[in-house]
Amino acid sequence: MSLPAWHGNTTRGGAGHAGARGTLSGALRSRWSSWRMSRDLHLTKHNDSASGNERKRRVLSGVQPTGRLHLGNYLGAIQQWARYQYDFDCWFCVVDMHAITVPHDPRHLADETLSTAAMYLACGIDPSHCHIFVQSQVPAHAELAWMLNCITPMGWLEKMTQYKDKKQRLGDDAPVYLGLFAYPVLMAADILLYRAECVPVGEDQRQHLELARDIARSFNYTFCRKRKPHKLPSVFREPEALILPEGAGVSRVMSLTDGTSKMSKSAASDVSRINLLDDADTIRNKIRRCKTDAERELRFDDPARPECNNLLHIYRAITGNRPKADIERELAELNPSGWAGFKERLAEALVSFLSPIQQRYHEVRQDALYLEQILAQGQQAANAVASETLRAAKEAMGFALPSDQHRVFGLGIEIQERATSSTTSVAKPSVSSAMAREDPAD
Ligand code: AMP
Ligand code: TRP
Repeated sequence: MSLPAWHGNTTRGGAGHAGARGTLSGALRSRWSSWRMSRDLHLTKHNDSASGNERKRRVLSGVQPTGRLHLGNYLGAIQQWARYQYDFDCWFCVVDMHAITVPHDPRHLADETLSTAAMYLACGIDPSHCHIFVQSQVPAHAELAWMLNCITPMGWLEKMTQYKDKKQRLGDDAPVYLGLFAYPVLMAADILLYRAECVPVGEDQRQHLELARDIARSFNYTFCRKRKPHKLPSVFREPEALILPEGAGVSRVMSLTDGTSKMSKSAASDVSRINLLDDADTIRNKIRRCKTDAERELRFDDPARPECNNLLHIYRAITGNRPKADIERELAELNPSGWAGFKERLAEALVSFLSPIQQRYHEVRQDALYLEQILAQGQQAANAVASETLRAAKEAMGFALPSDQHRVFGLGIEIQERATSSTTSVAKPSVSSAMAREDPAD
């Protein structure tokens, strides 16, 4: 692949990565290195108890291509992704099938999908170390989602607060489509297909992750552990949500106009959020107009002052996560200007924080061929893993598979059934497959 001019050429080819993938400039690379905190989280390596080998743990996440990405998406999710990418086996998708669960404009979907992928790259996601792909280009997502729909009780979905909020926002008279209701099942399929262990998301997704775990457990129990006459190895892993711990960043960025509701793409007012592509004047204007309170002193973590708390946390997150006391001291020195001085400082910090991201975004977006190639590689890699898991899930559910797909359980199990007809436990299939290699977590 020919690399665009803004690319360096220090590709670090990892297992399963195409050697020719692009990589980044030295300056950017060193900025990324400083973000590498995954070792501190003790999540890097997983001991495969069966083989004694260490392998990288798998991370998967995604963002919907609806409208523009905002600071909440970046600080709550994408910034974390960039931190994990060198030490984990990372898969990042643009979840365009989730974007159609609310009314959408078909004229913009493709463009927004590509823009979101370009934004991943601009935010520091390095395609020579991760797979970046578009959900709708991997058919296994929709197929597995249907299978999981058939084993997910409606009562579980009725409890989802995001569904209840969205439904309420649509209004009493608006039709609620089945896709919106089943949205978390599609999300579970996204994660389970890759047998991902870690899912970096913002706080608002915690409940969806719990649901994905419940679905995985229920499937494994029903179709693998309880299976008669022989058990099967579990098809799915139970994923863990990776949500920034207090102190390490912001897991929930709040609206600029109401410190009690989260910053969101779907909020009617654009002044409630900082979009990653807002220009400097827009940012200054939004911060000038954002909601504050009557108190002068600027202090973290006062529950009675949600706006103050939110703005301070944003400032801290974009200026290197310094200790809160340092920031409070810095801002106390701004007095008597108080809020006005802080707002100015915050606006300038946001402008300089976002400007390199915006510059890279425009570079990537102008190179359509480059982006297409990254996504084609991502699609190919994703298809290979997802179709393997899907086949195992279909086999566990008892579908008749085309003869060339009887690899994971079918043939292996038949052979073992004949050899071990008096035992109820199934040894690992002798046929080499992703399932066998990865030692399903029971
Ligand atoms: P969405 O915009 O709903 O597709 O969300 C994409 C990712 O951004 C998810 O991991 C969310 O948890 C995260 N996210 C969205 N809004 C916020 C927010 N206001 N604060 C923190 N994380 C957020
Ligand atoms: N539901 C997530 C959100 O709104 C987006 C999403 C879809 C996702 N599939 C996913 C996130 C899989 C993580 C993993 O933010």
